[in-house]
Amino acid sequence: MSRLVIVSNRVQIPSEKSPRAGGLAVALGSGLKPGTLWFGWSGKRGTGGRTPSIHEAQGVTYATVDLTDKEYNEFYVGFSNGALWPLLHYRLDFLDFLRHEYDGYRGVNAYFAGALLPLLNDDDLVWVHDYQLIPAGLEMRQLGARHRIGFFLHIPFVPPEILDALPCGVPLLKSLCAYDVVGFHTEDHRHAFLACVSAFLDVSPDEDGSFVYDGRRVRTLSDPIGIDAEEFAAIAARSARGAEVKRIRESLFSRALAIGADRLDYSKGLPNRFRAFDQLLERFPEHRGNISMLQVAARSREDVDRYQQLRRTLDRLVGDINGRYSEFDWVPIRYMTRALSRKSLAGFYRVARVGVVTPLRDGMNLVAKEYVAAQSSADPGVLILSRFAGAADQLREALIVNPFDADEVAEAINQALTMELPERKERWQALRETVWAGTPTLFTDTFLDMLRA
Ligand code: G6P
Repeated sequence: MSRLVIVSNRVQIPSEKSPRAGGLAVALGSGLKPGTLWFGWSGKRGTGGRTPSIHEAQGVTYATVDLTDKEYNEFYVGFSNGALWPLLHYRLDFLDFLRHEYDGYRGVNAYFAGALLPLLNDDDLVWVHDYQLIPAGLEMRQLGARHRIGFFLHIPFVPPEILDALPCGVPLLKSLCAYDVVGFHTEDHRHAFLACVSAFLDVSPDEDGSFVYDGRRVRTLSDPIGIDAEEFAAIAARSARGAEVKRIRESLFSRALAIGADRLDYSKGLPNRFRAFDQLLERFPEHRGNISMLQVAARSREDVDRYQQLRRTLDRLVGDINGRYSEFDWVPIRYMTRALSRKSLAGFYRVARVGVVTPLRDGMNLVAKEYVAAQSSADPGVLILSRFAGAADQLREALIVNPFDADEVAEAINQALTMELPERKERWQALRETVWAGTPTLFTDTFLDMLRA
């Protein structure tokens, strides 16, 4: 059996696990089999580390390289998170494109390809992940790699009218055609990609969503990522008996808890969420003093301007709402920008009567699945989920909302708070089946089966 080689910008080395690591890295990590090689950025900046450092842990080999300050600024802060991220989340108003940053992005992709190639065996299967590394496959091919190479995009893909705004949109699209398989979390994202390929590269995909470009057959699939629900449920149940959950329960004085947990990112719709909470207290005053919202917004990408602006916006908004509604013994929104451990979050999800997952756009969103996994069967909470999260394709028994409509979200929170136990149980049972069925192994095997074929 050929070895699997995973390539991603973030690498999750088990011994270095910290609550700040990206959700993608954590999710990929849980599906890893011994024997795998995982290659990517060390998370460090400096002048050293041009050849990979090798770590072994639990049978997996990790090979990481450093970035220089210039590479970090152009590749990571600049093009990846200042141009591609907003574009692929439909935020053209946030698109900051600079040619030299795009050059830096290509440069890092070429550097990764060159550093990885000497580590490969001839029959390795190579699986590249996410928007930071779109051209890595093409760079590997240009260096002579003849491997089966697949790519998975963990964030949305956009229709041609939007991709068209990116000055280098077509070259990026061509880079994606250097892969044997290109995967997405949802059919919508896959169809958007195929529409772009048809519009800009003049190819007509076959019925199965494959097409030939530059002599290569490119296959596409939608393959929703999942979580190890059994494991997460066990963590939640254990955590619910622990000291932190005891503290949060005591601090609530029997009030209901609504919880949100996200990276502090404009795609997560946090200002909209707070405005919806404001609407809830305005329109349903019976909840004043009876519900607390805990929003964990883990600081992220702090060197990117838009993230700094968002943080200031949220500070103001929370201050405004809390200032207007607080009593001397009750504060409506508890807002923290520090990341919490997985264990604490799991326990808090279990305590929370409402899970609020309302991104404006999201590739999948695993918090929605974790919230479901953390619930107790005897008294499950209610998930409120944005229709623009990839997870909404699967988690249909959640209260599905349009996050741009503060009134609709407020009504959904009210519905969740007043929902009787039988309906909560019925919805949760259905969600539970979906979440338990979509294991990380299923995600990985589905993709690799197509890549091998
Ligand atoms: C999202 C992206 C990942 C990324 C993670 C954390 O989940 O899809 O590729 O790793 O956010 O972001 P960061 O910029 O800290 O890696």
